[in-house]
Amino acid sequence: MCGIVGYVGMRTAAPILLEGLRRLEYRGYDSAGLAILPEDGPLVVRKRQGRIDHGLAPLVADFPAPGLAGIGHTRWATHGPPSDANSHPHADASGRIAIVHNGVIENFDRLKERLRAEGHEFLSDTDTEVLAHLIGRERAALAAEVGPPGELLVRAVSRALREVIGTYGLAVVSADAPGLVVAARRGSPLIVGIGDGEHFVASDAAALVSHTREVVYLNDYDVVAIRADGIQVTNLGTDTARVQISRLEFDAEAAERGKFPHFMLKEIFEQPTTVRNALRGRLDFDEATPRFGGLNMTLAELRGVDRIVVAACGTSWHAGLVAEYLFEEFAHLPTEVEYASEFRYRNAPLDKSTLLLVITQSGETADTLAGLREARRRGHRVLAICNVVGSTIAREADGGIYLHAGPEIGVASTKAFTSQVTVLTLLALLMGRIRQLSSSRGLQLMRALEAVPEQLEEILALDGQIAAIARKYHQARDFFFVGRQYQFPVALEGALKLKEISYLHAEGYPAAELKHGPIAMIDEHTPTIVLAPADALIEKTASNLQEIKARKGPVILITTRGHDRLASMADDVLFLPPTLDPIQPLLTVLPLQLLAYHIAVLRGCDVDKPRNLAKSVTVE
Ligand code: G6P
Repeated sequence: MCGIVGYVGMRTAAPILLEGLRRLEYRGYDSAGLAILPEDGPLVVRKRQGRIDHGLAPLVADFPAPGLAGIGHTRWATHGPPSDANSHPHADASGRIAIVHNGVIENFDRLKERLRAEGHEFLSDTDTEVLAHLIGRERAALAAEVGPPGELLVRAVSRALREVIGTYGLAVVSADAPGLVVAARRGSPLIVGIGDGEHFVASDAAALVSHTREVVYLNDYDVVAIRADGIQVTNLGTDTARVQISRLEFDAEAAERGKFPHFMLKEIFEQPTTVRNALRGRLDFDEATPRFGGLNMTLAELRGVDRIVVAACGTSWHAGLVAEYLFEEFAHLPTEVEYASEFRYRNAPLDKSTLLLVITQSGETADTLAGLREARRRGHRVLAICNVVGSTIAREADGGIYLHAGPEIGVASTKAFTSQVTVLTLLALLMGRIRQLSSSRGLQLMRALEAVPEQLEEILALDGQIAAIARKYHQARDFFFVGRQYQFPVALEGALKLKEISYLHAEGYPAAELKHGPIAMIDEHTPTIVLAPADALIEKTASNLQEIKARKGPVILITTRGHDRLASMADDVLFLPPTLDPIQPLLTVLPLQLLAYHIAVLRGCDVDKPRNLAKSVTVE
């Protein structure tokens, strides 16, 4: 989704902004631009539709933009199609103020009408341009006031924002206030980076890590004046602001591809390490129970929970579906898994002993955040399972568990999923151990979890074989993924991976459900990936496999080593190491990630930046 970068310091701003924007490319965008504040003279605005390397970068090379301060933006279209005119930055009526903005101004049409009546003319379809004009109008209204131009700009921004309904993360520069970037947030993340004689602002830590690891996470309604020698934060709501300097957990290297051709492949191969990190320090073998530092709930409070509602989107929602089986099996806790976008608008009855669990890699997904806020407003406790430290959801939840998976850059989520499932398995185990789950079963499950990182290494060694299967089937147009029980959510996730990055039609189904309709689509051109590890239902899944074969459907079987009889029925087979049923999703998903990856590469798709998708969806 849209990205923001800003810089004020002693260095030429344009290359720093371009580098920052490149680091935000993974979030998804369709155009890019920047505004440079020269030491004197008019603002320089450069913007172009398309990828940075084909649009903005050559434009800046042809028409350099000198200056030591500026703002930059990658846009993911919401109001108006991708075009040069709709790209950010947008200027006010005077052309002396420029802004970049993430989020959605909901009352922009009413504000636009009012401004039009006052004589303002607009060059784009965007809500952002309206905000630029509004700030310009407020600045003009302060023209008679005396005071440093920087202070007047901060006041103008604050006054304009009081009229705005909606969400924003924004950065503003004005030719009348050299050496100053004003930034503000409500509902859209913004982080200030603290350097030595220079300061940065960005919507995502990935744009900051190559410069500094000291950051300030802005809170909603914060307005910050950023200069080379310091920052000054005020809050529109409380008039006072909490400024706390935090340290970014990851370094620049973690946000780089290294020897891998794509971030997605790098992240798939990181999973032995990331699952180990998710388990680290959380397995107490003496007590046969997991332990967490950040839940902020006593065992008595956790015992008092009698129902769990999970709200999440996309891949995180699939991790929630695995958790449904886990909570029910280990702790006998009724669990419902909701799309956050549906949950937030339903008047779902939650009683006092219901626990809301939100799952989110980014910690910024708008619908998940809104679900959390709604539940908290009604007095419910919310736990978050989150990867990005310091993200809005991590900060607003009552407690939670971090994944510690490091930055996930590939738009198609991979390592976050396995870390989410690992952490959810631990949480379900804890809930079970404080209820009826025996210590021997607890220990057995914990040992199986501990073995997962090495087993993932073994599965990664199948990469060549998976690439060969991809070569065989990459021309197919439709794919089915089927599995039962714990494998059903994995089937959904496998289908989602393929759709996201290869644009092929893929559907996940419970294996037995295929015959209630979708089997009509099975023919010799439609491969089905059958997830049938050695679990309690392997024989039942084997019957479903035969139903597919009877319709001449090619079958790619994923099963456990030693199941040769089942393998003989399939066209292609991948053998995985054995584990317990509830731990299987952590193993079976990995070949599906690799299969989707190789198919997408063979089809010439841009794996890390799939069309129309964004890494972090901060609009509803
Ligand atoms: C986007 C991403 C998905 C992700 C979903 C939820 O759609 O493209 O990969 O699963 O958002 O994101 P979250 O950060 O809340 O897990």
